[in-house]
This record gives sequence, C-alpha cells and structure tokens, in this order.
Amino acid sequence: MTSNSKTGSGPEADAGPSVSRRAVMGMAGGVIASAGMASAAGAAAQAPASPPARFAGKVAVITGAARGMGRAHAVLLAQNGATILGCDILEPIATLDYPLATQADMDETARLVREAGGRFVGVKADVRDAAAATGVIERALKDFGRVDFLLANAGIYASAPLAQMTDQQFDDIIRTNLYGVFNIMRAAVAPMTRQGYGRIVATSSAAGRMGIAGSAHYCASKWGVIGLAKALALEVAKQGVTVNCVCPTGVNTPLVNNPAAWRRALPNDPAPTREKFEARMRENPHTPQGVPWVEPEDVAAAALFLLSDDAAHITGTALDVAAGGAATTMA
Ligand SMILES: NC(=O)c1ccc[n+]([C@@H]2O[C@H](COP(=O)([O-])OP(=O)(O)OC[C@H]3O[C@@H](n4cnc5c(N)ncnc54)[C@H](O)[C@@H]3O)[C@@H](O)[C@H]2O)c1
Repeated sequence: MTSNSKTGSGPEADAGPSVSRRAVMGMAGGVIASAGMASAAGAAAQAPASPPARFAGKVAVITGAARGMGRAHAVLLAQNGATILGCDILEPIATLDYPLATQADMDETARLVREAGGRFVGVKADVRDAAAATGVIERALKDFGRVDFLLANAGIYASAPLAQMTDQQFDDIIRTNLYGVFNIMRAAVAPMTRQGYGRIVATSSAAGRMGIAGSAHYCASKWGVIGLAKALALEVAKQGVTVNCVCPTGVNTPLVNNPAAWRRALPNDPAPTREKFEARMRENPHTPQGVPWVEPEDVAAAALFLLSDDAAHITGTALDVAAGGAATTMA
C-alpha cells in the first residue's frame, strides 16, 4: 500500500526533527573553529539555512492520543516542532467488543513523540465528562501557557441494527463521539479566541457523509460532528480560529482491526488472526482506489494541512481521506 511509505520520510518529517537541526548547527560550529573568520563567513554563506520547524512554539491538544490516529497526529506534529498534550480514557467501555487504549499505549505515544524531538504530556481523561475535558485544556494552559491546535479525535465504534440497539449502546457512542467533541471544543474556544488564534480539527468519518446499515448511532454521531464544526466555524470566523473536520474511510487502527472484527469478517474460520483478516481485506477492498483502508499517517497529513497557515482561509469544511470513497457520495 502506497500510503505506508510516507511515515517519517516525507517532506514534513524532513523539516521537523530537532535532532537534525542540532546536527546542522554543530557542523557549522566546527567549520568556524578550524578555518578562520574569512572562510568561516564563506562556509556560513554556503551552509544551508535550517528553517525553523513550522509548528515551533505551537501547543496541540489531542484527544484519544494513546494510539491509532491520535498517536499519528501526535508524532507528525512533534516532527513539525509542536508541543503535545494528549489525553485518553485508558479504560474500557463495557458495550464495546474491542479494548480501548492502555497506559502502555500512552507511554508508547510519549516515547515516539520524544523520539521525534517533541515534548509530550499524557493525561488520563474521559471526554464524555465535561469537567474532565475542561481539565485537559486547563492542564495545557498551566503547563504550556497556550492552546493553538485542538485535534478532537477520540471516538469509538460499535455495530448493531437500530431495532436491537440498547439505550446504553446508543448513549456510549453519542456521549463519546458527539458530546466528547462538544466538551473539548467548548473548553478550547475561550483560550483560542482570547489569543486571537486557533485551529480545531475534529475527526468525523466517511460515516458522517452517508448512512451505514448497522451503524445508525455511529453515523448520527459523525454527521453531528460535522454540524458542530460548521456552526462553530461561523461563530469564531472573525477571531482567528478555524474549525474543520477530517472524514476518513476505514483506517488501519485497533478500532477496525481487532479480534472481534476478525471474527466478524471470517465467520467460518475457527481461529481468525490479524494476518488472515488483513489478507481478506486486501482481496476484497471496499475503496475505489483498491486499498483495504488508509493508514493513520494519511489522516494525520490531512489534519496537518488544516492546521497549517496554508489552510488559513479554510474553515467550516470537511476534508475526506477516503481513497476515492468521497466520489461515490452525493455532492
Ligand atoms: N479507524 C477507522 O476506520 C475510522 C474511520 C473513520 C473515523 N474514525 C474515527 O477516528 C477517531 C480515532 O479512531 P482510531 O481509528 O484511531 O481508533 P482507536 O481506537 O485506535 O483510537 C481511539 C482512541 O480514543 C480513545 N478514547 C475512546 N473513548 C474515549 C473517551 N471517552 N475519552 C478519551 N479517549 C477515548 C481510545 O482509548 C483510543 O486510544 C475516532 O473518532 C473514530 O471514530 C475511525
């Protein structure tokens, strides 16, 4: 799959890691010490100027940062110089048939961010809880003094026909995917408008663009996220804050690639595995581009664009990362 090839090697990654910036500075210093003033000036003129990382000084809050797309956002932003505060629930939700992230997952995100040259603080918080979401933003302000970027990414998936859906199943999805985005957005808006600058990217889904049988609660939550983002975009448009969504098709994360999903996809196999599941998905891809799914880094790249100054006048939009799936929905 072509999408994998971008991880850590694209132009964004090259521009970012502070390790390579330090290496360039160290080299220039060595030339000056050994070759005298005149040739030092020449060497300095020839040395390629190392541009500052594009998000240097920026502070990003990412919900659902312990793994999956949240982790990919954290690593890419760190490669571009941002400081990250990541939160995650770090405990199960009983109506789901797959596990949510653990402290070990969060520790791995922290390790990868630091390896990319970034600062990371991880917080255990459930975005369903408005006070906890507010606490996440307050922690970022306390530790880092500002919040420039919000990636409202935390979300869960479950499948059930509407007629059999329980109140609890419906509630868990809506509370996490819709209230969760509302709670963290509401907490972030005041500091962003106060500083006259902010970028919010909420994670909707291809399921926020269409109906999917067996996923009515998930579709409702993801359509709702687009509505939240568009309305908020208008409210803060004159205050330097942009609000957009990304709408991914299936993404290769534990939300769709987990033992329960393997069993559903391979009902006649007594011992379904990740390898068998991935082979089946490759044989029978659902996207027009013929890939079984996109990778978390593909979505992170789209979010990074929406956070950048290149997208300063893009607000209230929903950007599909759907391997062609967007061409099959009505305009
Ligand atoms: N994977 C896909 O196919 C796909 C496609 C489209 C959209 N999405 C959306 O992308 C987002 C990220 O999902 P992912 O695929 O990376 O899945 P994931 O399960 O790997 O990551 C989601 C993270 O959110 C955390 N989380 C869940 N509920 C939380 C809560 N109440 N409070 C705080 N953290 C919570 C989880 O512990 C996990 O770390 C979700 O909003 C999901 O709905 C996923």
